[in-house]
Amino acid sequence: MSPFRLTRTLPEDATDAALRADVQRGLTGRPKSLPPKWFYDAHGSDLFEKITELPEYYPTRAEREILLARSGDIAAATRARTLVELGSGSSEKTRHLLDALTDLHTYVPVDVSESALAQAGQALAAERPGLDVHALIADFTAELTLPDTPGPRLVAFLGGTIGNLLPAERAAFLASVRALLTPGDALLLGTDLVKDEEVLVRAYDDGAGVTAAFNKNVLTVINRELGGDFEPAAFDHVALWDAGHEWIEMRLRSRTAQTVKVPALDLAVDFAAGEEMRTEVSAKFRQEGVRAELSTAGLDLTHWWTDAPGRFALSLSVAR
Ligand code: AVJ
Repeated sequence: MSPFRLTRTLPEDATDAALRADVQRGLTGRPKSLPPKWFYDAHGSDLFEKITELPEYYPTRAEREILLARSGDIAAATRARTLVELGSGSSEKTRHLLDALTDLHTYVPVDVSESALAQAGQALAAERPGLDVHALIADFTAELTLPDTPGPRLVAFLGGTIGNLLPAERAAFLASVRALLTPGDALLLGTDLVKDEEVLVRAYDDGAGVTAAFNKNVLTVINRELGGDFEPAAFDHVALWDAGHEWIEMRLRSRTAQTVKVPALDLAVDFAAGEEMRTEVSAKFRQEGVRAELSTAGLDLTHWWTDAPGRFALSLSVAR
């Protein structure tokens, strides 16, 4: 049994304060919007797991295919002694990479979910004698301070989750990742790629309605946490391709004119019939764009691996 530590850098009540601020801003703004990070309570996380198994939702399988094929290359290119995984969740997709990183000394999973971290971290520490597991409860879109661990460092941000950030947020995020690294350290980044519109839209509007339920779950979270009276059935799931921005947008469209109360915020929010509220942006990328954004942050792209049909990419970049 190797060492397992769990450090909280996020105050116990930070999540509640952030949810209130986000919902206040989002429901009083025009157009209305809600940030996607609030999809992921226990039920939302289950629904996302189901999404990853849908025939229409290819990114998870595509990324797994690349990781299986390229973990050895990643290990050889980085010789990483510390792996930091942002948004590690269950650490499931990382197991293969952990096996391949033969020089690894410390694994630092970072997530906002304490339960996911404790479960995954303890299991890993038990399974891998000699591996230090230092889990961090933290919001990776905010400031991160890493424990003092041996280099070279490899930061992994998988799943295509960087696509949930708007361009300015992405630039700030990549700069903050670069700040965690010293020259020669590396970033492994998963990005979903621009492709046929129909394939993209179906991935976010599946036939079984799982993504629709996932989208509406944010309303249930607001009802439970802030006393809201959203009626999920009074909204329709919308997924569309924004060709100008090259991103998928998920929205909730009010079926009727209605007023929703959110007592914890003293809010009464009017929706017009047909009014749409944005709940997620999921940007899709091209190699040249990824290279340029990384470079602006001080990272030089060195490897670009895709799945066989070229739907999803893992890139490796090095801090300069
Ligand atoms: C977990 C952010 C990568 O954007 O594809 C899945 C979330 N939203 N279906 C994505 C999601 C709708 C997913 N990420």
